[in-house]
Amino acid sequence: MKPVIIRTEGVTRCFPSGRETIYALKNVSISIKAGTLTILRGRSGSGKTTLINLLGALDKPTSGKIYFNGNEITQMSEARRDVLRQKEMGFVFQSIALISMMSAYENVEFALRVAGYNSGERRKRAEECLAFVGLSKRMHHRPSELSGGEQQRVAIARAIAHRPRVVFADEPTAELDTNTGLQVVKVFKNLVEKEGLTVVMSTHDPSMVEIADHVYTLEDGEIVDEQ
Ligand SMILES: Nc1ncnc2c1ncn2[C@@H]1O[C@H](COP(=O)(O)OP(=O)(O)O)[C@@H](O)[C@H]1O
Ligand SMILES: [Mg+2]
Repeated sequence: MKPVIIRTEGVTRCFPSGRETIYALKNVSISIKAGTLTILRGRSGSGKTTLINLLGALDKPTSGKIYFNGNEITQMSEARRDVLRQKEMGFVFQSIALISMMSAYENVEFALRVAGYNSGERRKRAEECLAFVGLSKRMHHRPSELSGGEQQRVAIARAIAHRPRVVFADEPTAELDTNTGLQVVKVFKNLVEKEGLTVVMSTHDPSMVEIADHVYTLEDGEIVDEQ
């Protein structure tokens, strides 16, 4: 049995909008097991980004609780949440935010510099992560010389470089064609199977869900299906 690494209990997130209140998430209770690939599936506006931001401690719920590794993150100070995010979590977003003046290698190496790795460790780990995503041969290219799928793989290498326990990916394949998107999801699947990483990824693309270990379907801020 794989242990639960993230759990939410009756999480609701509202946003005020003029005189009304938008319920982006309503009473969401989910469990994410360590060492699995979980997909949050749903149409645009269903609450995927809101949920990922909450799980990744980037936002706080209006009500309900969120636990990471047994600790309630909804009770933590900002400073503790920052440390948790920096040490235990990695993030990949829809629009690939690589530094355009830096090569693939430098993008990953820079993240390790920020994380406090020394130069020898940075070099070894950056090369290892780029090899993992299949980019050893192209690591000295800049983003503009790489395809969209390759750029997203650099973003994955960068997100895993500091050895987080969980990687959150919010629609990482939305700007890619289906085949390239599937390759990116397979990189995540490999990380889960070979490195024991936990990946939580959102998508509106039904063709991705077969690869997942677990799928939650969101509709209007509610979990309507679990597989
Ligand atoms: N900061 C915000 N302010 C107001 N409404 C928001 C905000 N963030 C999200 N929403 C609303 O919450 C709902 C869910 O949004 P979101 O989580 O971005 O969905 P998805 O990522 O599935 O497209 C939408 O109706 C959206 O308009
Ligand atoms: Mg979204």
